[in-house]
Amino acid sequence: MFDLSSYNTFNLHVSAREGIEIKCTEDLLALDLPLSEPYIILGGGSDVLFTEDFDGLVLINRILGIDVQKVELSPSTLPLNELDQAELFYEVRVGGGVVLDDLIVGLLQHGICGLENLSLIPGTVGAAPIQNIGAYGVEIGDFISSLETINLRTGEKRIFTHDECQFGYRYSIFKEPDFRSFFITHVNLRLSNSFVPQQNYAGLQSNEFKDAFAMRDRVISLRNEKLPNPKYVGNAGSFFKNPYVSKETVEKLQDAYEGKVPCYLLEDGNYKLAAGWLIDKAQCRGLRHGQVGTWGKQALVIVNLGNAKPHEVVALARYVSAEVKSKFGIDLVPEVRLYGKHGELAWDQI
Ligand code: FAD
Ligand code: EPU
Repeated sequence: MFDLSSYNTFNLHVSAREGIEIKCTEDLLALDLPLSEPYIILGGGSDVLFTEDFDGLVLINRILGIDVQKVELSPSTLPLNELDQAELFYEVRVGGGVVLDDLIVGLLQHGICGLENLSLIPGTVGAAPIQNIGAYGVEIGDFISSLETINLRTGEKRIFTHDECQFGYRYSIFKEPDFRSFFITHVNLRLSNSFVPQQNYAGLQSNEFKDAFAMRDRVISLRNEKLPNPKYVGNAGSFFKNPYVSKETVEKLQDAYEGKVPCYLLEDGNYKLAAGWLIDKAQCRGLRHGQVGTWGKQALVIVNLGNAKPHEVVALARYVSAEVKSKFGIDLVPEVRLYGKHGELAWDQI
């Protein structure tokens, strides 16, 4: 048995039949592919919920390495007297097992910017493209030029271009069943030395940022104000995704709540609502059911208050989504990936 307690940030005491740390591409190629038993790819385990023990093999991505290449501008692009202030571009190849926040700090120390709004998001670089992680107005997909993968069904290497990843809100093609066998070994990022503050998020609008470190500091303090630190309180961040709804639904809600409903207009005319606000208004913020609860400062986060059992987390998630459905008629869908005895489960299977 392989103990998964320290491989899931919910801190649930679950296990797998076997677990292997993958330290290089060759470790994957040395496996007897296709694998004959069920398997799960894991990074930091910060976006997963094991609903019971897993009867299969867990492949833990620990492929390290950061390689920075300056992308040369053609000499004719800039006049000579402007070369000193020129924006420099970098192609950064990162091992999928590198901790994302370590990468962000390392890049900033070398004057390479772009990822600062994603500071402190837990997990590995290899997992970041899977749901196209996002925070404070920035998504990782905007910086990804390509991904290097190995298909665990065939053992073949495949490079996915940015466009092939089909990045969207908490979405990439790797969420589709046919693409879950691709193990992301390396992520190629296109970044630059120019700091362009991304201040769309309400909590960032009133500040001035002298550099990317200042932005990182502000993002970290916003996160620490709202989100529990998984080192002390087990959780997997937002349990549900923010739901998309029609203009009519938003108009009705705004009438009922004096125009105070937080929402974001999407390109297709629909709106994204804040699931945390819906849960809060359904009286589910700061709940406590046995050893699990919802976080008092951010209702979208389900927390392990001590020694929670997987079924308690599932029961609370079900309760919260039922309360929101009954009050607003809106369905919540988990962001967190759900795993059972034989592998991944859909929300309606647990
Ligand atoms: P894991 O949880 O290990 O895996 C997640 C999924 O990706 C699984 O389905 C797994 O099979 C798959 N996977 C992992 N690695 C690979 C790989 N190399 N190849 C193929 N598939 C792989 N997310 C946000 O987007 N924004 C936030 O602001 C944010 N805040 C968070 C705050 C907290 C406190 C916590 C606990 C989580 C937060 N998250 C956030 C969610 C989580 O941090 C991200 O989804 C992160 O990318 C997960 O990385 P991981 O390495 O832990 O992935
Ligand atoms: N709100 C409430 N009550 C709550 C929680 C939120 O009223 O209990 C309101 C807030 O006041 C705000 C709105 O809802 O007006 C949105 O809240 P917040 O700014 O905290 O962001 P969010 O939409 O709840 C999303 C991401 C987070 C990401 C933040 C910052 C999703 C599902 N979650 O949360 O990502 O860090 O924005 O950009 O999109 C994660 O994915 O795990 C995650 C933490």
